[in-house]
Amino acid sequence: MNQRDTLTINAAGHLTIGGADTVELAKKFGTPLYVMDEKYVRDMCSAYRTAIEEDYAGNGLVLYASKAFSCTAIYRIVAAERIGVDVVSGGELYTALKAGFPADKIYMHGNNKLPAELSMAVENGVGCIVVDSFAEIDALEAICERAGTVQRILIRVNPGVEAHTHHFIQTAKTDSKFGFSLADGTAEKITLYALQKKHLRMEGYHCHIGSQIFEKESFCLAADKMLAFMAEMKSQHSFEASVLNLGGGYGIWYAEGDAQYTVADYSLYLKTVIAEVKKKAAEYGLKEPYLLIEPGRSIVGEAGITLYTVGTIKEIPGVKKYVAVDGGMFDNPRYALYQAKYTAVLANRAAEKPSEVVSIAGKCCESGDIVCANVSLPRAETGDILAVLSTGAYNYSMASNYNRNLVPPVVLVRNGEADYIVKPQSYEDLTRNDVIPEFLK
Ligand code: LLP
Repeated sequence: MNQRDTLTINAAGHLTIGGADTVELAKKFGTPLYVMDEKYVRDMCSAYRTAIEEDYAGNGLVLYASKAFSCTAIYRIVAAERIGVDVVSGGELYTALKAGFPADKIYMHGNNKLPAELSMAVENGVGCIVVDSFAEIDALEAICERAGTVQRILIRVNPGVEAHTHHFIQTAKTDSKFGFSLADGTAEKITLYALQKKHLRMEGYHCHIGSQIFEKESFCLAADKMLAFMAEMKSQHSFEASVLNLGGGYGIWYAEGDAQYTVADYSLYLKTVIAEVKKKAAEYGLKEPYLLIEPGRSIVGEAGITLYTVGTIKEIPGVKKYVAVDGGMFDNPRYALYQAKYTAVLANRAAEKPSEVVSIAGKCCESGDIVCANVSLPRAETGDILAVLSTGAYNYSMASNYNRNLVPPVVLVRNGEADYIVKPQSYEDLTRNDVIPEFLK
């Protein structure tokens, strides 16, 4: 187990998170249950923020990528940590605004923002919109003209660096629905197009090279390419971008083989990237840009765990053993989608040594419904509480009601105390929007 300060094992041999006994949490709130440690989230926000304050004279902003985990409470927490957010839909924007998040610190993303989402962003005074198509520029210009406002924008570009966990590649041709390529001249074209618009203030560029990345070099390389492009735009078109957004993507620990970073390590990670930005800006004779980064997974991922109750156990002799839990792909679709790796712990017997390798199966009517494959556990028994670690990011936010299962509630832990930040769904919630049209009656 490696979730540093967040997780420990208490005298009863129970797993604890943020000082709360997980077996007690399961008793009080039921399972399946998402649990988040507030302190970890806050520490991560402040580690990133401090890196910018200390090494970049505060000339930038950390944006929490709220696609990783979105609900009103999380926007409250990150607002209190004096960072901004990135939202990618009307729903995330609505949730942030409902939580009272300062609109000027909201950055709106999306490769196909709907007209209604753009209008909502403008009407609510969203700080910046990261545009991703010519059509979006036209639509946004028209909306801002009608509203009589000028909107700050960035353009999403594709620096030709693609990173995946432990390796990265440089690509001359990019095949992505996101961004405009630096290599084929489209990034330059859209820059000139945006600069002509009266109601848009084109401030700079955004890129995002991937997710769950451990190599600092890939971010440094992306920064180099972005600054080289900014220098080119300055010399050729006298446009000096004042903002550079390097996206998110910092990796977290899920299972053996993943790097184990402390909160302080993430700060150092960002400091390395900052040093590169400074070096390249000086080399190209550019003013140091206002720097944005958008970590999602690293802020909330290791802050969260999911608690389940073990149900059926099935051994297929000579093949494998399935330990089924009361959750599944409806609360965590990441194995089904990406064969994601996780670490599981028997929360009520956390001090016991693992004695077998099993697969944790969900309860959905689908053979691919696995929560984690091939994990080491002590011999599990029906009724044990099973914790899956590092589920704070892209679990609740990707959950569904598949098979009309209920999306589990989320509790937040602060110094051993826990309370809901997302209440349990009910069967009534499931049928709330169902209607029988006249012709079926
Ligand atoms: N900024 C942009 C523009 C992004 O597209 C993303 C993630 C982030 C920031 C945050 O990246 P992070 O720091 O969380 O890696 N569902 C997938 C992850 C998709 C990430 C998409 N974009 C998963 O469960 O692994």
